[in-house]
Amino acid sequence: MTHLTLRTPDDWHLHLRDGAMLRAVLPHSAAHFARAIIMPNLVPPVVTGADAAAYRARIMAALPEGADFIPLMTLYLTEDTDPDDVAAAHASGLIHAVKLYPAGATTNSASGVANFDRVQGVLERMAQIGLPLCVHGEVTDPTVDIFDREAVFIDRILDPLRRRVPVLKVVMEHITTSQGVDYVKTHDTGLGATITTHHLVINRNHILAGGIRPHYYCLPVAKREEHRLALRAAATSGDARFFLGTDSAPHTDPAKLQPCGCAGCFTAPNTMPILAHVFEQDGALANLESFASLNGPAFYGLPPNSSTITLTKGAPDQPTHIDTDDGPVTIFDPGFTPDWHVTARSSC
Ligand code: DOR
Ligand code: ZN
Repeated sequence: MTHLTLRTPDDWHLHLRDGAMLRAVLPHSAAHFARAIIMPNLVPPVVTGADAAAYRARIMAALPEGADFIPLMTLYLTEDTDPDDVAAAHASGLIHAVKLYPAGATTNSASGVANFDRVQGVLERMAQIGLPLCVHGEVTDPTVDIFDREAVFIDRILDPLRRRVPVLKVVMEHITTSQGVDYVKTHDTGLGATITTHHLVINRNHILAGGIRPHYYCLPVAKREEHRLALRAAATSGDARFFLGTDSAPHTDPAKLQPCGCAGCFTAPNTMPILAHVFEQDGALANLESFASLNGPAFYGLPPNSSTITLTKGAPDQPTHIDTDDGPVTIFDPGFTPDWHVTARSSC
């Protein structure tokens, strides 16, 4: 096979940032994706409907002329989030999810949730109106080893939370463990998971063996090989509970290459070539459309895109980084040259 045509994919977890970085990275997502769930962890975070409307306007203003891309906005859950504001932002069609960051779990999460009793009312309201909660699933307890933080979160926080609000739709964002895969599989409806591009490709050796590689450092951090294989199996299986959320999270090289560097891999430009390569390697090219273009919209109750994207066999030279007015941003290096590249995108 030399050409592969799919319904245009969506990215169900994307960091676009703001200002100069937004202007530099947005065209890369808009080139290959029709829609994306936009993460709200700006400084300050996107916490109210008014914040989300203003951020959406800035994204639309930064879109290249003629781009075909819809930002699906989210709110950042805080202990002071007003359920009425959330419901109004949802009813107007502005927001498609609320994002839960445990306080201190990751980049710009200081305003996240520490006391879950304080968000019970918002979660109940979200369950009533069918608005999904996107969860960064890591405990912040400093006594828990960083490689165990996702598995411990499922037991300590996520499962009890879901028992308290059973009807709430939940997306476990960027799962990195077999425990995450298994937990999602114990539920037939109302629970899904996004999987990133990079967690299908790297394990923790890629970050730490033979030298430290800051460009592979992200949160949740990549785990052992057995976990990467569990993620590969889930993503390539076609199972509707798993869908693409790149977690493309640009930071400038100076911000990554620090004694205490930022977490995040920038995968927006090459996700689709990497995924085509990975799915083909696993004999699952037929399931790429489910993972990248069908399962996500079905979970969020949206129609799949009617436009298409075409990938073609072959590996033209890929840039290693993009330039922004804030400095260079390195593009994720999968450690192989993807056998596919995007050659066309039809409009609907
Ligand atoms: O690697 C990550 N980068 N993980 C996150 O949860 C946040 C993200 C970011 O915003 O940079
Ligand atoms: Zn993220």
